[in-house]
Amino acid sequence: MSTQQEIRRLTAPDIRARKGGEPVVCLTSYHAHTARLVDRFCDVILVGDSLGMVMHGFETTVPVTLDMMILQGHAVMRGSRQALVVVDMPFGSYEASKEQAFASCARVLKETLCGAVKLEGGRRMAETIAFLVERGIPVMGHVGLTPQSINTIGSFRAQGRVEADWAPIEADAKAVADAGAFSVVVEAVEEKLARRITSAVAIPTIGIGASPACDGQILVLEDMLGLSPRVPKFVKRYGDLGPGIEKAISDYAGEVRSRTFPGPEHVYGMRPKGK
Ligand code: KIV
Repeated sequence: MSTQQEIRRLTAPDIRARKGGEPVVCLTSYHAHTARLVDRFCDVILVGDSLGMVMHGFETTVPVTLDMMILQGHAVMRGSRQALVVVDMPFGSYEASKEQAFASCARVLKETLCGAVKLEGGRRMAETIAFLVERGIPVMGHVGLTPQSINTIGSFRAQGRVEADWAPIEADAKAVADAGAFSVVVEAVEEKLARRITSAVAIPTIGIGASPACDGQILVLEDMLGLSPRVPKFVKRYGDLGPGIEKAISDYAGEVRSRTFPGPEHVYGMRPKGK
């Protein structure tokens, strides 16, 4: 019998059951090595389409493709063991019809083995979310600021800062919850609105720039580690890794140039005879 304890991965229903309970801790990751670290402390790892901006240097998330998400989603699954891995559906892979959404999401689930997908949009996506959930695809919603709509909204601005804007955002969150999503990301909304949404829906709200009123929080890993050159107001930098990485690279370059690296301890010698 194996002496290793089996670690059970969290599931979408586990996260759904956390409504109003212990805060749901989420971070993004796009790679096996960061997933390994995040997995030890977080309930959910989101393979966010923010990878387009963070990893690839695009100005927005719009150019991200399904193949990019699948490649990184698979890497994150290989690097993690216990967190629920949620893969973001990229722009253009799910909006045209429920059938298009099902085909894209099924590919993501089959090819990455992740536990759920996330898609942006409220009332306009409710029918699609219901269609996916009925067919076995757990969905995390995303309302408030929806970065994939940048070309129609014009800028990455906080939402709901005047009361007149609250009703449609609250209706979006309710529609996503009623359609069967297991949780919903609420991005960049005013605090009182986040509180209203959190008490109005029966699923956990995961805030990013949406105050402590939410049932959980998410940040982009590189933003909170201090690796992103510019970050929104809502990001707290928990680390400042940039200067440390810069110093390591500069030390390496200096030692290669001065021929002090590799040193004798990094060099293979001849194998002793007879071994
Ligand atoms: O793409 C992403 O990283 C996200 C989070 C910011 C919620 O959607």
